[in-house]
Amino acid sequence: MNKPSHIAESHRLDLAHRPRRNRKSEWARRLVSENVVTTNDLIWPLFLIEGAKTRVPVAAMPGVDRLSVDEALREAERAVKLGIPAIAFFPSTEAHLKDEHGTEAYNEGNLVCRACRAIKAEFPDLGLVTDVALDPYTSHGHDGLVRERGGDLDILNDESVAALVRQALNQARAGADVIAPSDMMDGRVAAIRAALDAEGFLDVQILAYAAKYASAFYGPFRDALGSKGALKGDKRTYQMDPANSDEALREVALDLEEGADMVMVKPGMPYLDIIRRVKDEFGFPTFAYQVSGEYAMIMAAALNGWIDGDKAMMESLIAFKRAGADGVLTYFAPRVAEKIKKG
Ligand code: PBG
Repeated sequence: MNKPSHIAESHRLDLAHRPRRNRKSEWARRLVSENVVTTNDLIWPLFLIEGAKTRVPVAAMPGVDRLSVDEALREAERAVKLGIPAIAFFPSTEAHLKDEHGTEAYNEGNLVCRACRAIKAEFPDLGLVTDVALDPYTSHGHDGLVRERGGDLDILNDESVAALVRQALNQARAGADVIAPSDMMDGRVAAIRAALDAEGFLDVQILAYAAKYASAFYGPFRDALGSKGALKGDKRTYQMDPANSDEALREVALDLEEGADMVMVKPGMPYLDIIRRVKDEFGFPTFAYQVSGEYAMIMAAALNGWIDGDKAMMESLIAFKRAGADGVLTYFAPRVAEKIKKG
């Protein structure tokens, strides 16, 4: 019911616009709301580990475990029940399987391939995203092949692309729906597209980590994969400089020309400006990766009672939508989906 405001004449401002009117009640706020996060916007990244009935917590990511394949299958079922469209895999590889060349990436029986086959058999309609990069499998922790030069490591581009193509084919044969190159080598999208097409995988999509920055926010992820201590040097000769923005547009343009179906900006929250520019410039499906360090920051503050974790989580996701993202890879995916389901 509307009640006239009883404000003393002397205080009353003569305003043409009072923006607060549209915020005065719950129904009005709902009516003018511009963006919405739905379960359809979520891709859920899962960490894999050897074993059976095994869940190994990731220290800096409270609520996130490395999962044996049978446990991943249970989480896949949870994703299906919640209506999450797709999940993505990241393997924690046993040290004895790592070598300089990342050979395990081509093993058709590797963790990621086994998880793909097991989950596709039970839940054929759940989207499976696999990461293309050698870092889970290399003893030096880099995404590509390396050569030592005067004590420094050179990350070899064209040789790496050949390896990444083999890895991508291995994943497609295991049933991956979306191949997601996260390695930042030049020319890998075109090479992977050609190889997929040549084998008849015409419908396998490519989600390119097109603008991926050399970021400190990947810390907990490298810990989860066991590649942190192993990493020799850093990734700045292939991942982007956080200072750059125009360069991100050039990277995205190349990946789209080479045949990417969807592109990604990574990390997420510190790079919302990049998401907006990419979406405005190209209008292609654009995803954000809310990476491990972003998850860790929100969880750490929440567990200390410094912020309201659930509210911060939802606010971070609406920020991606507002910036123009079509969807978000987030470790919060099941929690968000459950919250949305409850209404
Ligand atoms: C590997 C890869 C990384 C992430 C996804 N794929 C780490 C890196 O580039 O070192 C990070 C994801 C996260 O932090 O959640 N190529």
